[in-house]
Order: sequence, then structure tokens, then C-alpha cells
Amino acid sequence: MYFEVFNDREGCAPAEVRMGDRTVLMFGSNDYLGLITHPKVKEAATQALQKYGSGCSGSRLLNGTLDLHVKLEADLAALVRKEAAIIFGTGFQANYAALSALAEKGDVMICDHNLHASLVEGALRSAARTVRFRHNDLEHLERCLESCPPEERILIVSEGVFSMEGDIADLPGTIRLAKPYGARIYVDEAHGLGVLGPTGAGAAEHLGVLDEVDIIMGTFSKSLASVGGFVASSAAVIDYLKHTARPFVFSASLPAASVAAVSAALEILKTEPERRQKLLGVAKRLRQELRARGFAVLEGETPIVPVVIQEEIDLCRLCKGLLEEGIYTNPVLRPAAAQNLLRISCTAAHTDQHVDRLLSTLEKVTRQLGIERDTR
Ligand SMILES: Cc1ncc(COP(=O)(O)O)c(C=O)c1O
Repeated sequence: MYFEVFNDREGCAPAEVRMGDRTVLMFGSNDYLGLITHPKVKEAATQALQKYGSGCSGSRLLNGTLDLHVKLEADLAALVRKEAAIIFGTGFQANYAALSALAEKGDVMICDHNLHASLVEGALRSAARTVRFRHNDLEHLERCLESCPPEERILIVSEGVFSMEGDIADLPGTIRLAKPYGARIYVDEAHGLGVLGPTGAGAAEHLGVLDEVDIIMGTFSKSLASVGGFVASSAAVIDYLKHTARPFVFSASLPAASVAAVSAALEILKTEPERRQKLLGVAKRLRQELRARGFAVLEGETPIVPVVIQEEIDLCRLCKGLLEEGIYTNPVLRPAAAQNLLRISCTAAHTDQHVDRLLSTLEKVTRQLGIERDTR
């Protein structure tokens, strides 16, 4: 069956978007705080465009550094309580650049099995040996640590919130295991930043272990309403990356408008914690209501609400059927996740009425298509 993969849309509003000749309810966006169309974010980007022009035409190491880049790096480092930060053109670049540069021959990277492709590619590109432990399985992680020769330097790589399943890594357990081995810890907070933690710094802050994580990565394409990514750590690590990370050295820097949008979003993230609370409330209600209707929702507390749909063909038919009814969701097919998932993502812009419409439409479409709800 043909499934349209690229659904063009006009505009990126977090809750309702135009697709062709109709308005579609968006439950597939990672604009968790609903800031992409926020007036302050748009105004900051517009002013930066007027002041600095449309691009930087150079690498950060040469002519491409603006005062805006330097200020944003300082603000991001402060948010995640590290000494320094470095920003990249995308979140993918940030992971790829950092992992490929940080580990050397004779090191080992112990990676959660479900890591994002950018982390996998970075680990494979590095000169280090790589080992994968079963997803969020501390017993298996411990066995991997035990099997490392004592002379190997160890970097454990995890996501704070896993991008497809939406579950949170057991970072306190990981840190406890890492300590006797002197292993360093790298956490990708792409989906935790802005969403979790008392100040929105992510899963590590939420779990009370932010200061014990050596390297934090984040992206601007989700809660920070723009494009780009960053890595934060000790001043020595960041200085090393600024001179050795090839996507930083050999690629043009982010344009001023994108950077200014991130800074404005960061300010809102800090000053409007109620957005985070609203977002988590929307996700909690959706999970409860889906379960009450018999849908197999994976355990979790984040805005990523994954519903298990066993058969690939059913998942594709379901997404297509939902779209025909004016609701956009993302299908996640194996092997991108361990099970086929209808990945619903909530944003702070969703209302109770939006959630009600999603629920009633899901019930209607699954019934019409004869898709079983809880097949576990
Ligand atoms: C966990 C994770 N890391 C990194 C990235 C890459 O970020 P970006 O899309 O901003 O390049 C993503 C994107 O989906 C992600 O989910």
C-alpha cells in the first residue's frame, strides 16, 4: 500500500497547520513548548535578520563567529550547569561531531541500544571500540563495564528521553555503575530539554543528577523552536571540540536569525515554567484516556506518547486514516523502535478540545479499519 511520506504543510504552528486545502491538527511536532510561532521568538529572529543579514558565510573558527553565538553558548552552559558550550548547525551534527572527536583509539563507547542515528554515526566514526547494551538495562550495562580491559577509557552514551519510546533513561543507576570504572557519561537531551526538570534543563536535572553527567547535548529543533544543536561540558572538553570537531571547524556557522530565535525561546523557557507544566498535563491526560479506551500505551511521563500497533500495515493505514480525518501523527516502524508505534507528540499549545478530537478520531478510525487496540 502506498503511504505518503512527505506531507507538505504550510506553516509550522504547533497545534493546527494548513495542509493543502484544509487545517490539520498536529500531533507529530517536537515543538514541545509551542514556541515556533511565538511573537517574541519571531520578533527576535526578524530583528537579527535586519541587523546581521541572512547568513555568516564562514566557519566559527574563521570569520563566522557573531556575538550572538558567544552569548548563546554562555546561556546554554549556564542552563545545564556546565563550564562551557559549543553550538553546531544541527543537533545531528552536534552528536556526530562530539562523539567522533571525543574518543580515541584505545577508548570504548558503551551505548544504549536505542540511540538516535546521529549518536550511532558519531560512535562509528570515532576511533574507539563501540559496545551496545540492551535498552535501559542496567544489568547488561554492568556486564559491559565488567568486560572492559582496565586500561580502556570508557564513555557511556545515552539519551535522557528516548526519542521514539519517550521513556526516561535510568541515569542515577548509570552513574552509580560508572563511578568505580571512572567512566564518563554523555547524555543527549534532545527531547528532555525544556520539558523536564525544575528549570527545564532536561532528564538529568529531573532525576537530580545533572551535575554528575559529564557531557550534555541538546538540539534547538524541538523545545527551542529553531535549528541547530549544542554540547556542554568542562571548559577543556569544549575547547578541544572547538579545535577538533570537524563539523564545527569545516562548516558555516548558524545564521543570526536562527540563533536569536533560540535565545528568545530560552528566555521563555526560563520565565514561563507553566508551559512545561501544561505540556506534561496534556500528555498525562492523553495517556490516561488512551489506556481507558484500551490502547496499548508505553509507560512514561514525557510528551512522547507511543501507542503500540503490532502490524506495520495497520500502523500505516491508521496514520493515513487519521490524516484523512484531519489529524497528523507519526508512524514509527521497526527497526526505528523495538515495536511498531503510533508516535503521538504533545505540545503546550494543545487544548483539552484537541485531545478530545484526537481520542474520538482514533476510536473511530481504528473501529472502521478493524485494528485491534490492545494486542499484548
Ligand atoms: C535524540 C535525538 N538526538 C539528535 C537529534 C538530531 O537533532 P536535529 O534534528 O536537530 O538535527 C534528534 C532528532 O530527531 C533526536 O531525536
